Amino acid sequence: MKVTPIVLQDLSQVLYVVRSATIEDGAVIARILSEVGREGIYIANEGAYMTPEQQSLVLSHLNPEQHLILVAEQNGAVIGTLEMVRGVFQKNAHTANFGMALMPSARGRHIGEGLLRAAHEWAQATGIEKICLSVFSSNTGAIRLYHRMGYHEEGRRRNQYRLGNEFVDEVFMSWYLPPRSVT
Ligand SMILES: CC(C)(COP(=O)(O)OP(=O)(O)OC[C@H]1O[C@@H](n2cnc3c(N)ncnc32)[C@H](O)[C@@H]1OP(=O)(O)O)[C@@H](O)C(=O)NCCC(=O)NCCS
Repeated sequence: MKVTPIVLQDLSQVLYVVRSATIEDGAVIARILSEVGREGIYIANEGAYMTPEQQSLVLSHLNPEQHLILVAEQNGAVIGTLEMVRGVFQKNAHTANFGMALMPSARGRHIGEGLLRAAHEWAQATGIEKICLSVFSSNTGAIRLYHRMGYHEEGRRRNQYRLGNEFVDEVFMSWYLPPRSVT
């Protein structure tokens, strides 16, 4: 299922929209992921992740019961994205993993919270029961957001990534969705 576009207010009361990504968003999503990757401290990929064409191809083949790609848009520009993927086997179809990234100018205004709330609604509607992520232990801003949204640490792989000269842990976090009410 697709997420119905939602209009929200950031911390400065500026409106932004969270919506499902379209094929036309492939280029901007590829650019955001590449630019955030090039910052070198937040996500695993370094620079080029997918070409715009590859990202558009992913969007054109997306199974809406399995895979969600959202964008946040403000003042007519896409400034962030979230991707959530459900487990592909019967054994893990009750789980999903996600990653997200905002352009630097959009951070710190709780826009990430709006993206994640919309992803939670999709997960609830598709019957997912547990949402998982991994984050660098040095990414205190992201971890603050995940704690605020109810996520808890499940474990960590020590010194799993090296950011420059510093080793950081990969922290695994998860959140269990409330059971669906039967009507
Ligand atoms: C992580 C991210 C998605 C969070 O979204 P967000 O909308 O910035 O989240 P919030 O505004 O709730 O900020 C979360 C915390 O980041 C910190 N923060 C504040 N301003 C910030 C800024 N300009 N840049 C980074 N972090 C900031 C604060 O500690 C804040 O928590 P607080 O509001 O409780 O004090 C976003 O900051 C981002 O894209 N960061 C770079 C990529 C990344 O880390 N992706 C996640 C990988 S697991």
